[in-house]
Parts: sequence; C-alpha cells; structure tokens
Amino acid sequence: MTIPGDIYILAIESSCDDTSAAVLHNDKLLSNIVATQEVHTKYGGVVPELASRAHQQNIVPVIHQAIAEANIDKKDVSAIAFTKGPGLMGSLLVGTSFAKSLSMGLNIPLIEVNHMQAHILAHFIDEENYPKPTFPFLALTISGGHTQIVKVSNYFEMEVIGQTIDDAVGEAFDKSAKILGFPYPGGPLIDKHAKLGNPKAFKFTKPKVSGLDFSFSGLKTGVLYFIHKEVKANTNFIEENKNDICASIQFTIVEILMDNLKKAVKQTGIKEIAIGGGVSANSGIRTRLKDAEKKYGWKTYIPKFEYTTDNAAMIGIVGYYKYLQEEFTDLSVTAQPRYKI
Ligand code: KG4
Ligand code: ZN
Repeated sequence: MTIPGDIYILAIESSCDDTSAAVLHNDKLLSNIVATQEVHTKYGGVVPELASRAHQQNIVPVIHQAIAEANIDKKDVSAIAFTKGPGLMGSLLVGTSFAKSLSMGLNIPLIEVNHMQAHILAHFIDEENYPKPTFPFLALTISGGHTQIVKVSNYFEMEVIGQTIDDAVGEAFDKSAKILGFPYPGGPLIDKHAKLGNPKAFKFTKPKVSGLDFSFSGLKTGVLYFIHKEVKANTNFIEENKNDICASIQFTIVEILMDNLKKAVKQTGIKEIAIGGGVSANSGIRTRLKDAEKKYGWKTYIPKFEYTTDNAAMIGIVGYYKYLQEEFTDLSVTAQPRYKI
C-alpha cells in the first residue's frame, strides 16, 4: 500500500547496447539491473540489429529482477519512465513499446526521458557521500555517442553551450583502442593500461576548434598514422609500448576536455562542474577534475561508478522529478533517435 509522498518509479533504459531497469522510491534507488550485451564484442562496435534483438530477449527478465530486488509489488509502481532518445531507433523502440504496454496494463502514468538529461540528473539520486550539485552548474557529458558541455540552470532548464562536431569522446577511445587491437569497447582497456604508462611518452596533436566545440576525428587519424609508421619499423611496437601509448592517448583526450571546460568556466563564471556518461568512469578525467578543485577553485561532482555507463537508475531520477511536476506522456509517444536536450 503506497501513501501520498511515496512515489515508486519503474524506469527502463534501452537506448544503445545495455538493457536496464531500475526502481526508485522517491529519489532513492531500490534496484538497478543492467544486462550488458556481449554479442557486439566480436564486431568491434554495436550492431544495431543485434542490439534490438538482445533488448527483446533481456527486457522481461531485467524488469522482473528490478521489481524483485526492489522488494515491491508491481501494483505499488506510481509511473513508468523510459528513454525516448537519443539512441538507436531499434533499441529505443523495444523500451518505448514495453513502457507503453506496461503503463496501459497497470493503468499508471508514462514519463518520457531524454537520455542525455538523465546522465546529468543522475547526480540527484540520493547517495551518501555524493552531494548534489547546486544550480547553476556546468555538465560535461561524455559518452560513446555524445560530448557536450551543458549549462544547467534548473532540473529541466538546460542549454548545450559546446559539443563535438564529429566523433564523440567515447568513439575516440574506442577507435584508438581498435587500432591497438583491443576488443570493443576499448575505452576501459585504454584506461587500464594508461594507469601504468607515461602520458608524455608520445605526443598527439590537439584539434583547433573555435568556441566550446570539440573535435576528435583528427586524433583517431593521428593515432592511426603514428601506429602504422612505428609498426613498419618495429612489428612489436604496440606490444612493447602499450602502456605508454595508452597513457599518451588518454592524456591528449583529457587535455582536450579540460581545455574546453576551462574556457566554459571563464565564459560563464560557473565553477560548479558535474560530469556524466560512460567516459566519466575514466580515471584520467576523474583525477584531473579532483585536482581542479584545488588548482582552479572549482567544485566538482563525479558520479558513483554505477551511474556512469548507461543505466536505468538515471532514467528513474528524471522520472521522479517529472512525476512531481505531473509531466506525463500519452500513449501516442514514440522513440526519437535524435532527441535533443
Ligand atoms: O554512456 P555510455 O555507457 O553509452 C553511451 O551512451 O554511449 O558510454 C559508453 C562509452 C564507450 O565508448 C566506452 O568505451 C566508454 O564509455 N568508457 C570509457 C571508460 N569506461 C567506459 N572510456 C574511457 N575510460 C573508461 N574507464
Ligand atoms: Zn549514455
């Protein structure tokens, strides 16, 4: 039996290659189940068709498990929140259709969520030792599909003030990793080797982009030419220098991110900085942001590891705030692969 003020959100995330369901009680997380699709590893990237099929297989057990772990009855759920976009059409459709059916079956409201807003608002999930950012703050959202600096004035008042003009930062990690022969997704592996290497061993050129925008496609090409040249001279070059190569690539990527963040702080005068998205799991960016607290007087917010890569908990927290505003969606809603903040 729920009492007024007790809001239970069941959230569904299926925008890319993780099928996830979570249950929140107000702003507290009760469960967060993520089924990561291993099927893409051997293809070196996400295969959209296979992702949709895997979501179809995973979604029912993942939702069952989320409800069971939350120790609630499905009759207690106040509303269903789901990712409307951005993401892969086929993947989004699985979550969207399921959320619509569930809301109809349980006769409860449906709430649409923007995946990128969710990466930002993940900071508002109630967690001990993780203070919530105060408005206004700057959010650096860094993932396999996006790289943005967002000025966040309130929960739903967000403005993108800088973004990538080509590859996302996660792609820069993953494509560089592919050149080194790592399986997909290579970002975490670059990070692992980078911890053991010298970040100044090799120098990669940083792009020249105006304003607060980013560019990462040149770096990938730079890494490719560099590796080709070195491997021609020494076939064991990658094996012998793996840690240093990874540390140097990571150093360059983190520099590119930090350069623009510094510019954004200067431009807006805002020194509250939050990061979100899969790449915020990266140890290089985490360390540089922590250092920035002392060095530049910033206050930085780094999400709990669980909330960095795609997860439904972050969809649930957006659902909670929308529920409070009674911002519900009707059943005519459909997935939107290019849904903007
Ligand atoms: O947010 P996310 O799970 O999915 C998208 O919405 O894209 O981000 C996935 C991205 C991948 O590119 C992955 O390589 C990268 O995040 N990633 C990392 C690390 N952990 C995940 N990149 C660098 N270092 C990491 N530790
Ligand atoms: Zn994401």
